[in-house]
Amino acid sequence: MSVTRSAVTGVGSYLPEQIVTNADLAKFVDTSDEWIQERTGIKQRHKARDDQPTSDLAVEAARKALTDAGKQAADVDLIIVATTTPDMTFPAVAAIVQRKLGAGVGIAFDVQAVCSGFVYALSVADGFVARGLSKCALVIGAEEMTRLMDWEDRTTCVLFGDGAGAVVLEPREGQGTSQDQGMLGFALRADGTKTDLLYVDGGPGSTGTVGHLRMAGNQVFRHAVVNISEAITAACAASDIQVSDVDWFVPHQANQRIIKGVGDRLGLDEEKVISTVAMHANTSAASIPLALDAAIQDGRIKKGDLVLLEAMGGGLTWGACALRL
Ligand code: UT7
Repeated sequence: MSVTRSAVTGVGSYLPEQIVTNADLAKFVDTSDEWIQERTGIKQRHKARDDQPTSDLAVEAARKALTDAGKQAADVDLIIVATTTPDMTFPAVAAIVQRKLGAGVGIAFDVQAVCSGFVYALSVADGFVARGLSKCALVIGAEEMTRLMDWEDRTTCVLFGDGAGAVVLEPREGQGTSQDQGMLGFALRADGTKTDLLYVDGGPGSTGTVGHLRMAGNQVFRHAVVNISEAITAACAASDIQVSDVDWFVPHQANQRIIKGVGDRLGLDEEKVISTVAMHANTSAASIPLALDAAIQDGRIKKGDLVLLEAMGGGLTWGACALRL
């Protein structure tokens, strides 16, 4: 049976120039390089300039993804940005990106599912592309998490960083099997009873201020390992594949111990797991496309490979997706 799938035809990413090391943080908050590396695997994070909003990072990543796909800005008819750190409350970062790219009139909106945002946004874009409503979509994860930090709270400020990653999605015809190029299956979840485990203590409808990120780290940690594994199993079932078929596992980059815990639970070969958390820290919705691009750039992930993505974040939200490049 012939089916139209949305396929990733280009990938790009961008990291702001400034690097902040663990030692840099230890100069003004009570922490150490040793603690951060041992508990999280993080060595450094990137930080955007004050005059560099999230849309600027998104545009840089989008331009690279378009070049990789052999597409022009004028070809783009849909832009979805997954972000928790928009330039302004509105308009959507996606609309600003459309203008900065010179993409012309099309569809543009943001998806807010915090660290799960990229997987959620991919599933939304997949619906547009697979139903013939978009011929060339940009899905971007772009975040400036450093703007949400309370720099006196050592339990959170050492964990996050800034960056952006983007993919171009185009329709491709397949046979309806797991050998097809493109998105194969998703499993998305949210549990709104756990909003108090990870949230920002501000916003236009409450304090009228931006607020700071607050997290009950070890409770989120425990939730992550168990529930991500369930979503991965469900996404594999929806894709008609076994976890053992997967060539590459590209997880959300929050903590090396979570990445290892999920990998071990699923019996994944460590060689197949892409990890950039040491260099990028947790860039929320940007972490998956940043890691995907890094592993494509260094030659590990290749066209035709079966790739599994997963994420978990505020909401709580979580989810997984299997795709063939
Ligand atoms: O992307 C969104 C999803 N987010 C996540 O997935 C994050 C999930 N959680 C985690 O990654 C981990 O829970 C953390 C890295 C946040 C914390 O690691 P942990 O092993 O769960 O540590 P803990 O929170 O249980 O804290 C252990 C100790 C505490 O001291 P006491 O109370 O035992 O004396 C903390 O005060 O470590 C202390 N601590 C620190 N010490 C030095 C917490 N943060 C720091 C720090 N430097 N930065």
